[in-house]
Amino acid sequence: MSKTESKKQAVARAAIEFIEYDDLLGVGTGSTVDCFIELLKPIKNKISGAVASSISTQQKLEANGIRVYDLNDVSDIPLYVDGADEVNSRLQLIKGGGGALTREKIIANASKKFLCIVDDSKIVNILGKFPLPIEVLPMARSFVAREIIKHKGMPSWRDGFVTDNENVILDVSHLEIMEPIELERKLNQIPGVVTVGLFAERGADQVLISSDDGVSELKKDN
Ligand code: 5RP
Repeated sequence: MSKTESKKQAVARAAIEFIEYDDLLGVGTGSTVDCFIELLKPIKNKISGAVASSISTQQKLEANGIRVYDLNDVSDIPLYVDGADEVNSRLQLIKGGGGALTREKIIANASKKFLCIVDDSKIVNILGKFPLPIEVLPMARSFVAREIIKHKGMPSWRDGFVTDNENVILDVSHLEIMEPIELERKLNQIPGVVTVGLFAERGADQVLISSDDGVSELKKDN
């Protein structure tokens, strides 16, 4: 097993400790969350079920015998567990490397607590080195790309990729995101944008980081 893989396993194991009896879990998407889903299998009777942030996560949960609920059929989600592509010291995130950002953002906002699980390669001082994913309505792709250039970003169409919501993704590089909440709000205003992969307004509540020294919690700077 590679070092990165064992870090993902370790942080997923740590996240399991946050689950309380009969919890309904929000479950994110990605390779770190895949480790978490595997660990849910032996404790599937401890939870009441899950809400999935992607079709792929839904299939993996169901394959492990976990009941998956539609978000419209539940009210309280006590805990949402998901990974991230970048994390800063204010627990603000870039997400969407796997293209599931829209459902992830909805479930993050619908959940009481968002526990983010990452390895130490994801921790940054300034968000934006990882190209910022933006989900866009297909007919607005070129228009949104031109608008993003006005915000000094360099958009690149994730060619051949279609989201679970039948939309497309623009990955925006060359951004140095000094004011994440402000940029998230501005980009959200562009007609045709479905979701911006900046999770700043609703960032994580707690971040667990896996490194060579074990799993620790990222302390929040205000
Ligand atoms: C998917 C995401 C993932 O959380 C993010 O890409 C991290 O994935 P991984 O755990 O595979 O590094 O936002 O849309």
